[in-house]
Amino acid sequence: MRILNGKETAESIKLEIAEEVKARLAAGKSRPHLAAVLVGENGASLTYVNAKVKACAKVGFESTLVKLDADISEEELLKEVHKLNDDPSIHGFIVQLPLPDHIDDQRIIEAVSPEKDVDGFHPLNVGRMVLGLPCFLPATPYGILQLLEKNDIQTEGKHCLVLGRSNIVGSPMSILLARNSSPGNCTVTLAHSRTKDIKSLSLQADIIIAAVGRPHFLTADMVKEGAVIVDVGIHRIEDKTKKSGYRLIGDVDFDEVASKTEAISPVPGGVGPMTIVALLKNTLQAAG
Ligand code: GUN
Repeated sequence: MRILNGKETAESIKLEIAEEVKARLAAGKSRPHLAAVLVGENGASLTYVNAKVKACAKVGFESTLVKLDADISEEELLKEVHKLNDDPSIHGFIVQLPLPDHIDDQRIIEAVSPEKDVDGFHPLNVGRMVLGLPCFLPATPYGILQLLEKNDIQTEGKHCLVLGRSNIVGSPMSILLARNSSPGNCTVTLAHSRTKDIKSLSLQADIIIAAVGRPHFLTADMVKEGAVIVDVGIHRIEDKTKKSGYRLIGDVDFDEVASKTEAISPVPGGVGPMTIVALLKNTLQAAG
């Protein structure tokens, strides 16, 4: 069994990005600049956004964090989005999701200029992705592709089961792994909450991408010997032995599944750091 170490893989890609930044600056080009919009005080979102800002500093990007009150109106938030669209010093930006209930996420996503949409959530980028045209790939699936590639996981001809059909992870992941590309060329099954007998599907899968959002959903009896498993889930569960009072677990019951696999990503330290690196790569691309 091999660990798909996202933390290490992400660090090595960050070194490559930092080199590219140096080369850009030496050539008289601008320093890539990412902005992140955070609405409200959601603890997990704050952690993610802070990690993104920290990663920018690590590779020599400029970053701007725009913190807005949870009770901001949709119109006011749209104004902030337009300001970032119109600010030539900002190459790319993200609006951290989820947004408060009174705000229509889709309306905000569609207001982001597609050229600055480094999350790859705008319908134009999603459409371009589906057609295999140049675009910003959504960060989590893009990070997973990099994790597979950098760890020499062969995907061609493999049966890949994607668990979960979210717009952010499952749906784009299924499209990207089915593409005529490397990584790609998988035979993909996309399973979701209405799928019957997931176990019969998972037992046939060579690669499983678990993105269901349910702690320890994937158990050892559901996994074929020698499968490759990527765990996208991240859940805080109470743990009084930890200083923070909680620990992080994934959608996969790592302790019981790991020994059956050829390779498996841990939580934390698997997909999370790769998602951030994918966002950095998109920002570099946005800077041109
Ligand atoms: N919330 C969970 N994942 C993401 C992401 O990749 N981008 C944004 N903007 N919000 C998220």
